Amino acid sequence: MTSPVSYELVDEIGVITVDNPPVNALSHAVRQGIHDAIAAAQEDASKAVLIVCEGRTFIAGADITEFGKPPKEPHLPDLCNTIEASSKRVVAALHGTALGGGLEVALSCHDRCAVPGAKLGLPEVKLGLLPGAGGTQRLPRLIGASAALDLMTSGNPVDAGQAAKLGLVDHVVDGELRDAALAWCRELIAKDAERRRTSELTVEDVPAGALEEYRKALARRTRGQIAPQKIVDCVEAALTRPFAEGLQIEREKFLECMQSPQSAALRHMFFAEREAAKVRGLASDTPLREMNKVGVIGAGTMGSGIAMNFANAGMQAVLLEVDDEALGRGFGIIDRNYQGGVKRGKMSEEQALACRGRISGTTDYESFSDVDLVIEAVFENLELKQEVFAKLDAVCRQGTILATNTSYQDVDRIAAATKRPQDVIGLHFFSPAHIMKLLEVVRAEKTADDVLATCMALAKKIRKTPVVSGVCYGFIGNRMLGHYAREAQLCVIEGATPEQVDTALEEWGMAMGPLAVFDLAGLDVGYKARQGLPEAERGDPRAFRVADALVEMGRLGQKTGAGFYRYDPKIRQRSSDPEVQTLIEREAALLGVEQREIDSEEIVDRLMFALVNEGINILDEGIAQRPGDIDVVYVYGYGFPAWRGGPMHYADAVGLAHVLQRIREFEQRFGPENWTPAPLLEKLVESGITLAEWAKSKGN
Ligand code: 3HC
Ligand code: NAI
Repeated sequence: MTSPVSYELVDEIGVITVDNPPVNALSHAVRQGIHDAIAAAQEDASKAVLIVCEGRTFIAGADITEFGKPPKEPHLPDLCNTIEASSKRVVAALHGTALGGGLEVALSCHDRCAVPGAKLGLPEVKLGLLPGAGGTQRLPRLIGASAALDLMTSGNPVDAGQAAKLGLVDHVVDGELRDAALAWCRELIAKDAERRRTSELTVEDVPAGALEEYRKALARRTRGQIAPQKIVDCVEAALTRPFAEGLQIEREKFLECMQSPQSAALRHMFFAEREAAKVRGLASDTPLREMNKVGVIGAGTMGSGIAMNFANAGMQAVLLEVDDEALGRGFGIIDRNYQGGVKRGKMSEEQALACRGRISGTTDYESFSDVDLVIEAVFENLELKQEVFAKLDAVCRQGTILATNTSYQDVDRIAAATKRPQDVIGLHFFSPAHIMKLLEVVRAEKTADDVLATCMALAKKIRKTPVVSGVCYGFIGNRMLGHYAREAQLCVIEGATPEQVDTALEEWGMAMGPLAVFDLAGLDVGYKARQGLPEAERGDPRAFRVADALVEMGRLGQKTGAGFYRYDPKIRQRSSDPEVQTLIEREAALLGVEQREIDSEEIVDRLMFALVNEGINILDEGIAQRPGDIDVVYVYGYGFPAWRGGPMHYADAVGLAHVLQRIREFEQRFGPENWTPAPLLEKLVESGITLAEWAKSKGN
């Protein structure tokens, strides 16, 4: 097998070229190749060595697919030490994304140059890890402890310009990288510039107490996670210990992280997200329809945010409303959102203006005669949506993709309102639509392959994470949520306070407890959805008694200053409300429910396993393609902690047998109406395999 690393002498410079597509990850063969080339350079006529990469990027990190397998020499930390110890000057030439182990290789070089578009970062924390090849010791020596902490605990990259300011890059080159880097190497050789070994630099001190302050703020920001705190431990070692000892501490902490369930969960999420973008049975060369101009119907909460996504990606968007007044309200939302983005430093004033300029308004369907895609976001009502689709069928040119943002309605029935059901699809955005990353792509019975493929590609263009769902009430996310919501509210009727339920889930890791989420979304949304259903399909009537009563009292959640909680109008902080407690007790008495103490473990298990059980049914029915897709839906759409890997990974991690045992217990205690174990769960427990193994056996 040919090595992914080549070495050649170009005049007096030894050039090491890494060519390991797609991202030049540091597989064993790459480590070995660099190691051998550095050894060769010690013996030949080279006066300096250049490390440069082919393809779209410099080395983007350790090879994540090798994690968990027996490690093979040369290990990455040793390779970095070997590079740094080289008797010949070693220069790194960066382009694309120099990440993780890739940046650590660059840090062990004596000089670094980069093209202006290069991005440099240590994203290990996003995989539940810390930089484990000397990065935690070299980075603080090069750019100072405080900047190093920010870079490593956020995991976010900086561009070459920022990197040059930090001292992470020595030279930003113009023109073609390899030639420019070679020219710079010649300059360095000619100047006989001093060779700098990062490990020999001293770390600038930090003020007393600063690290402790940093730890506390970090704990608040990264609640529940272990890797960020271990990064601080390593930086502390860089500040207080010799380099070699620091490396040893880094090694220990890295291995602890690598073996942690948190890292396993985050690595699972990394691959699940990429896997979710692949649609089973869809040929990779499916032709894509051209997408330049998008129409959006309904400029309410969702429609206005949806239009922004396309404008932000450089596309034209036309918003259609019932009248000018409604359009004005929609543009009001859009303007406020852009102003918020500028205030938070997400975009410049000019960028915001340019994006805003790409959105136009109309009250006339004829404006949609030349759009490539329409997304409908009118009220959640099937007849209204069918009416809108019939109109679209009449005005849109053939080939236009017709999408609905419905949360619950049957996309097949919406498609049937047109004479082109093959062009109809669900594109379910999450609120706030210009921010939330998840996009459920609902494949209806007759959706054409090229429509689906185009929407998956479009999702990437507008920076969303797409997950394919089949048609069912609520699709993947909201269908599962129904069960989670039921249990949250039953816990309240049975005696837990709203604060107890929310705190239990938040301490477990959810971004926000369920009742606080209902208050945020508006209790009227669920109320209206229930009213729209036949009584038999509304679910356990005990569960929604309190929420319905709150709506009838005018307590719609945050927007009215009160729902399950009372809200401070200025800071929107929630506080428990005795009035709600009285209501809960009254409703419980009317239902004949004797209230009792419920502990956090029961609350968490009931909510989580309700979610898991329905997720497994969804898999069994083929609504979701694979367990990882459900995990992506929950992490990107519902505030599920990524470090727990989504509900399906969580079920595997705690053990399916344990999940089944708890569900059977709940079935006994609360009855089979709400607690029937998913048949697939029973089957998997019987055959002793995990959901991940089951998915693999089915070719995922
Ligand atoms: N190892 C193995 N495979 C990797 C990889 C890695 N580090 N990074 C990306 N890949 C694979 C992806 O799984 C994907 O495979 P697929 O095509 O089969 O699905 C393929 O490369 C392309 O990746 P993307 O679809 O993500 O391509 P993009 O162009 O959108 O993004 C990227 C490129 C920014 C490099 C992104 O892939 C990324 O962020 N990668 C991870 C970087 C990272 O976390 N590095 C640190 C690793 S940990 C480490 O280095 C430990 C060290 O400190 C000891
Ligand atoms: P909304 O009530 O904020 O906005 C709906 C808009 O549609 C209103 O501005 C209304 O004037 C307009 N409209 C109604 N009939 C119309 C017609 N015939 N032609 C043109 N415009 C018309 O509603 P929201 O929350 O934006 O929801 C829209 C859709 O998105 C619904 O299907 C909802 O289920 C779905 N959705 C809502 C989410 C949310 O969190 N609010 C999340 C995901 C999906």
